[in-house]
Amino acid sequence: MAAFHWTMDYTNRNQFCYGCHIGMDTIVEEYQASIHFKNTKGVVAATCSDCHVPREFVPKMALKIGATGDIFHMMRGTITLENFETEHRPRLAQKVTDEYKTNDSKQCRYCHDVNKMDFENQSRNASRRHQTMAERGQTCIDCHAGIAHALPKPAATEAAAE
Ligand code: HEC
Ligand code: HEC
Ligand code: HEC
Ligand code: HEC
Repeated sequence: MAAFHWTMDYTNRNQFCYGCHIGMDTIVEEYQASIHFKNTKGVVAATCSDCHVPREFVPKMALKIGATGDIFHMMRGTITLENFETEHRPRLAQKVTDEYKTNDSKQCRYCHDVNKMDFENQSRNASRRHQTMAERGQTCIDCHAGIAHALPKPAATEAAAE
């Protein structure tokens, strides 16, 4: 049943992620102000799991969640609104960025296909960059970091590296 709801109820998939990330960090609020959640079309363009959970894992994950409700209690507590920005965000943002670089921004490409882009109606800059990104060895995250969340502040990144 859990898997059924997970796949059928598209936007409610976010509720699971909200369960821990609201109150723990500012990620959800940032996402909700971003283009993939709030736009003139009124569609949720991408859920958390669209960008973070490879599609083949979603049904499996739903089963796991159904079985282990208490992971909520287990995992909360270390990260807080007070220490997220300085102690945790740089590390977590780097981890996700590394994943995107390694898999050539696979998650973005679930929905966006460069070969289907209407280059003539993109800005000249966007058009040029998208058409040359492959030969330059670039991937979406190289230019679109921060598309759904605030980026770590430089000071926090330096402090974390020390
Ligand atoms: C049980 C609580 C909990 C739930 C539910 C949860 N998260 Fe998290 N999430 C965390 C914690 C705690 C961290 C920090 C892990 C660390 O410090 O290494 C985290 C970190 C992350 C990261 C940073 C990268 C990484 O791999 O650690 C991403 C991305 C993420 N969560 C996405 C999601 C998405 C998407 C969902 C919903 C499908 C979700 N989370 C649901 C607790 C949760
Ligand atoms: C459009 C794609 C997209 C959506 C939707 C999205 N994220 Fe992310 N997320 C990213 C990318 C890309 C990063 C890597 C850092 C960056 O560029 O902002 C990231 C980074 C993170 C991090 C690491 C900390 C940080 O500040 O970078 C967490 C935690 C996270 N996301 C959780 C979530 C949760 C929870 C949701 C839903 C509320 C969500 N994301 C929605 C793309 C997305
Ligand atoms: C589940 C589908 C989906 C995923 C995954 C997704 N996007 Fe999107 N994205 C959309 C849709 C739909 C829009 C159009 C939203 C609108 O304009 O109303 C959009 C809009 C955009 C825009 C235009 C922003 C603007 O201001 O006009 C950019 C840039 C973008 N996405 C980049 C990314 C990147 C980078 C990733 C991966 C980190 C990603 N998207 C993941 C569906 C997706
Ligand atoms: C070399 C840099 C670069 C790379 C790599 C790149 N983009 Fe872009 N993209 C841009 C620029 C610049 C814009 C225009 C931004 C603006 O006008 O604010 C743009 C705009 C967009 C838009 C909005 C287009 C429109 O006209 O509405 C989308 C969607 C988008 N990018 C998705 C992607 C996706 C998905 C990837 C990976 C497959 C990607 N981009 C890779 C630089 C890049």
